Amino acid sequence: MQLLDGKFLSAQIKLEIAAEVAQINQQGGKIPHLVAILVGNNGASETYVASKMKNCEEVGMHSTLIRFDPSVTEAELLDKVREVNENPDMDGLIVQLPLPDHINPDRVMETINPAKDVDGFHPINIGRMAKGLPAYISATPQGVLEMIKRYDIETAGKHCVVVGRSQIVGLPMSILMQRNTYPGNCTVTITHSRTQNLAEICRSADILVAALGKPEFVTADMVKEGAVVIDVGLERVRDASKKSGFSLKGDVKFDEVAPKTSFITPVPGGVGLMTICSLMQNTLKAARGEIY
Ligand code: GUN
Repeated sequence: MQLLDGKFLSAQIKLEIAAEVAQINQQGGKIPHLVAILVGNNGASETYVASKMKNCEEVGMHSTLIRFDPSVTEAELLDKVREVNENPDMDGLIVQLPLPDHINPDRVMETINPAKDVDGFHPINIGRMAKGLPAYISATPQGVLEMIKRYDIETAGKHCVVVGRSQIVGLPMSILMQRNTYPGNCTVTITHSRTQNLAEICRSADILVAALGKPEFVTADMVKEGAVVIDVGLERVRDASKKSGFSLKGDVKFDEVAPKTSFITPVPGGVGLMTICSLMQNTLKAARGEIY
């Protein structure tokens, strides 16, 4: 078993991004600028957004956090999105999800200029990705692809089972893994809460991507000997033995699954760190006008 080490890879990628930003700076170019909009004070969202901003600063990019009270109206939020769309100094824009119930996330995503949609959530980017056209790809699936590439894992002809059909991870992951390119060329099965015989389907996976958001859902009996297991889950679970009162768990029961695998991502220290790198890579692309 080999660990897919997100900590090591993300540190390497951050150095690469920092070198590119430094070069832009030396040549008098425009420093890439990521804007995040955060509505309300959801604890997990606060942590994610703070980490995105901090990582941008660490690689020398500019970042701006725009906060709104949870009572903000949809119209006010959309006005701010349009303002960022039109600001030539701002290259990438993300609106952290989830949003309060009175705001329609689809309307917000559709209002973001696709050329600044570094989260890859706009229907135009999802459509372009599905067609294999240049597009911003959702950060977590892109981070998973980067891991597969950097560990040189073979994917052609393999059976990839994706557990979970979220718009952010499961759906784009399944589309990407079947594309006629590397990493890809897999036979893909996407599973969800209504799937029958889930354990049996998972057992047939050469590459198993767990992205359903249920701590330690995937157990050893659901995994084939020698499989590649990618754990996208990250949940806070109460844990009285920890000083903080909780521990972070993935969707895979790591201790019992790991010995059966050829490669596996740890949680924390796996996919999560790659997600932020993808977001910064997309912001760099946006500043350079590489996609649009
Ligand atoms: N909420 C959970 N993951 C994400 C993400 O990747 N982007 C945004 N905008 N919100 C999220």
